[in-house]
Amino acid sequence: MPKLLLTTGGGDCPGLNAVIRAIVKSAHTKEWKVYGSKEAFTGILSQPIDLMELTPDIVAGIHVKGGTILKTTNKLNPLRFPVTNPDGTITLENRIPHLVEVLKSNGFDAVINIGGDGSQKISQAIHECGFPVIGVPKTIDNDLTATDYTFGFQTAVQTATECFDKLVSTAESHHRVMIMEVMGRDAGWIALHTAVAGGAEICLIPEIPYDIAKLVETIEKRYENGRGFVNIVVSEGAKPVAGNVTTQEQEAGSEHIRLGGVAYALSAALKKSGCQMEIRETVLGHIQRGGFPNAFDRVLSTWFGVKAFELLESGNFGKMVAFRNNQVVAVELSEATRIYRQVELDNDLLLAAKKMGIVFGD
Ligand code: F6P
Repeated sequence: MPKLLLTTGGGDCPGLNAVIRAIVKSAHTKEWKVYGSKEAFTGILSQPIDLMELTPDIVAGIHVKGGTILKTTNKLNPLRFPVTNPDGTITLENRIPHLVEVLKSNGFDAVINIGGDGSQKISQAIHECGFPVIGVPKTIDNDLTATDYTFGFQTAVQTATECFDKLVSTAESHHRVMIMEVMGRDAGWIALHTAVAGGAEICLIPEIPYDIAKLVETIEKRYENGRGFVNIVVSEGAKPVAGNVTTQEQEAGSEHIRLGGVAYALSAALKKSGCQMEIRETVLGHIQRGGFPNAFDRVLSTWFGVKAFELLESGNFGKMVAFRNNQVVAVELSEATRIYRQVELDNDLLLAAKKMGIVFGD
């Protein structure tokens, strides 16, 4: 029987288990054996290797669960694997050729790698080494150019919107300015969608640096007009004009700068600029990544899983599945990882949000 390795890499995201289930069910009908590598490629690169056999029984019903049964990590990237030298310094090595050797020597015929931008760069490198690979995109940030939506995004927006609605009642009752910080890294998709869904007065995204004076003016006007409260959605990567993003302490071995805390920075800046109103801050954090996927994300991730196995079976390697114009299609991995997708300044939803009176601080 041919052997397939499944991996989930990068941050977890609602819908990962649904993809795993769809692939395992598809593979079972075609008599492939499927194994999962624990924590992305760490399992297959461990000695002894740490794999989990995935059967229809194991994956039964997991599509409703958040997280990933395979566990995940955004450390130990095989493209830049940290190796400690005898003098204590660290060199980053490309371990992809070694990974491909290990895959071959363990009898694997193909890999399906489920992950975001960084994970799909690993897929591309495996493909360039001549090993059969298919990518499946995931991220709550929705920041991949190749696909209209990634699964996990809609669930994150749903969660953020429900939290936003709860904050509106406090804003209204206490005449407060409520600032809610959402995730998204350098892309403002979660913030934009949540602001429109919730009806925010102000939405701050990384793509549009905000002018603090304009925000104070917007808040004061709304109080003068008798509305008496303001709800702000701020994306973790938003920054003031001529200012910087707000970061957290960097973790050893992590590939990304940790963002977070802009809600507090914004609150302080508003007060410093003369805003007299009472302000409260809420940082949603990982709540947006947790819990069960909503119906849309379950459908999309199941669809992605089925399509990924179809591509593999037909020998259409080096591709990533993507959702485009209501269809699940195959795109070249090289294209999928080429451009980071931020909110374009002429994006239709952004323009609609502005027409609805949402202020972006520009
Ligand atoms: O990429 C998904 C994401 O949740 C971002 O929105 C956020 O900045 C980051 O991951 C947080 O990563 P970690 O879980 O490693 O703190």
